[in-house]
Amino acid sequence: MASVPVPALPDKPLLAVLRGERRDLPPVWLMRQAGRYLPEYRTLRASKGGFLDLVYDPATAAEITLQPLRRFGFDGAILFSDILIVPHAIGQHLEFVAGEGPRLSPRLADAPLETLKPVLERLEPIYATVRAVKAALSPETTFLGFAGSPWTVATYMVAGEGSREQAEARRLAYADPARFQAIIDRIEEVTLTYLSGQIEAGIDAIQLFDSWSGSLAPAGFEHWVIAPTARLVTALKQRHRNIPIIGFPKGAGGKLAAYARGTAVDAVGLDETVDPVWADAELPEGLPVQGNLDPLALIAGGDALKTAVERIRAAFPTRPHIFNLGHGIQQDTPIAHVEALLAMLRTRS
Ligand code: CP3
Repeated sequence: MASVPVPALPDKPLLAVLRGERRDLPPVWLMRQAGRYLPEYRTLRASKGGFLDLVYDPATAAEITLQPLRRFGFDGAILFSDILIVPHAIGQHLEFVAGEGPRLSPRLADAPLETLKPVLERLEPIYATVRAVKAALSPETTFLGFAGSPWTVATYMVAGEGSREQAEARRLAYADPARFQAIIDRIEEVTLTYLSGQIEAGIDAIQLFDSWSGSLAPAGFEHWVIAPTARLVTALKQRHRNIPIIGFPKGAGGKLAAYARGTAVDAVGLDETVDPVWADAELPEGLPVQGNLDPLALIAGGDALKTAVERIRAAFPTRPHIFNLGHGIQQDTPIAHVEALLAMLRTRS
């Protein structure tokens, strides 16, 4: 019997690597690729007012998501939004103060969680952005959604702002673990809703940003990073079986292997302080990794950039690898250096 030809699905190299396939030319995207180093972003930002006005306007947020794709043709597009949309939906007041950063109130160091009134409608415009980007994205591009991990989001909700060493959240976790657990549980629940909504609107894969996982002692890391992330991954996979999840526990260092095993994420993001040779030796065999160029090497360019890129590529001779920075691209990064990086990555080493 003649077999019926199955129409080939478009090849999305980044998604293939997340599913465990090794590509000799690693797919690439850059954390914070939509943002202030791009003149077209700064122009749009200046015409629209504040950062949250951009995020809550789906047409504008979709345009910003697509800007770096048009310019550089990355393998991945990351949704333009923010990890602090979840506290906003949980009911905190949120604003971004120019030159200072985010402010959330009331802060949970003072106010009980029960005083917050959920406003889940605040998630809806983000799903509209996902649908708008999806309609415009080329079929080879992997569309990444994201959220902050419960611990990192909790550090902002407790302190009401970015804080040095996340001391207030760590203190609350020691002083009143039941109250801190309730905060983590609430974030977990709304994040599950938020990520499910993104997936239903058309996202291909998820990244969980745990930007402040590095400030916790080992027992805290187990309890507040690994355990909630593992629960979130399990719950998300129950609803959306095939969705790949990248975990990015920045600053986790030697605890990365325990994180990879304990959370069951599909891929692990490495920050620039992790030796890629160590990561290849210590992480579970075949687990895809992402990273980990120092954003400052990208600013430097030239030979420093070339050497750093080659070292990372050589460290993963057989492991599935997605090329990325070790943290977000900085505002003063020359566009020409991003172009030079892409040219290097599109040549076999
Ligand atoms: O390309 C992308 O990655 C776009 C989407 C994105 C943003 N923030 C947009 C943004 C993502 C994935 C984030 C994640 C995020 N947001 C994290 C985790 C990653 C990390 O960087 O550690 C954290 C901790 C936040 C919270 C947050 N949002 C802070 C601390 C700030 C900085 C405050 C400031 O004024 O610079 C933001 C603002 C923010 N989020 C900007 C962008 C492009 C800058 C907004 C601007 O002024 O134009």
